[in-house]
Amino acid sequence: MSAPITLGQLSPTRLVPAGIPRPEYAESGIPAARGRRDCTKTTADELARMRVAGRVAREVLDAVLDAVAVGVSTDALDAVAHEAAIARGAYPSPLNYRGFPKSLCTSVNEVVCHGIPDDRVLADGDIINCDVTVYIDGMHGDCSETVFVGTPDEASLHLVRTTYDAMMAGIAVVKPGERFNTIGKVIGKLAKDAGLGVVKAFAGHGIGEHFHMPPSVAHYYDRTLRLRMEAGMTFTIEPMLNLGVGDCRILADDWTAVTADRQRSAQFEHTVLVTRDGYEILTLGERSPVFRTQQGF
Ligand code: MF3
Ligand code: CO
Ligand code: CO
Repeated sequence: MSAPITLGQLSPTRLVPAGIPRPEYAESGIPAARGRRDCTKTTADELARMRVAGRVAREVLDAVLDAVAVGVSTDALDAVAHEAAIARGAYPSPLNYRGFPKSLCTSVNEVVCHGIPDDRVLADGDIINCDVTVYIDGMHGDCSETVFVGTPDEASLHLVRTTYDAMMAGIAVVKPGERFNTIGKVIGKLAKDAGLGVVKAFAGHGIGEHFHMPPSVAHYYDRTLRLRMEAGMTFTIEPMLNLGVGDCRILADDWTAVTADRQRSAQFEHTVLVTRDGYEILTLGERSPVFRTQQGF
């Protein structure tokens, strides 16, 4: 087993050039009240801008995943995310969102989500989720992948593969008229059948002009989530699956979520659009999922 994750040292705050448009919380750290009704995108212009945000988020994520290697610090990955975002004229959405100090979330091994990049160096056998969100053209795009560092053990292979399959199964049910709780129903079943836990404390979310908007998209079956999907909605599906039961704790930095039993956790995330007859993945890359291209895993 790998050593438990501990909190490390943060590098100085990275700056965003003044010419790059910022989301409303960039100075204050406080996001605006959730904006318009749900995440329904009504105009062609908004949809075009969401496609840009999704594409840029994916390009930044690909750059980050390319930099993952044994001996690389999570802070070095943050630098890659930060530079790749600003090179594209985008603001890295995590930076100062509710006070988050960095431009990327890096969640290693038993970290469920919201890991803060620091001086911890990646080791052979680690798994790492890199979660990229960018703000460009007035819209946010959000995606993440888990990849292997060096050679994974069998349990981590099973966990990462199944988590990816669970996200894609959740996406596959997206269409107008479908209830949002169908997503959690299929993800929960897939996880259970694979002997894995599902995190309940964090959910997918509407996304667009704000980073997090209604609805909250549970990754387990939530009877009360009766809202139906409508064409034009944009939201994320981002299941976190665990080798254990899925209960979480937050570490002393008030961000890093770890599994209560310290068993490993994996996550994948896409931003999706509900189309007339199904869905479109706005953060799909040619190389997604990258772990499949890592030495044939
Ligand atoms: N990207 C995360 C999500 O998928 C949210 C990160 S919040 C941050 O919703 F402040 F940590 F960036
Ligand atoms: Co998200
Ligand atoms: Co995300």
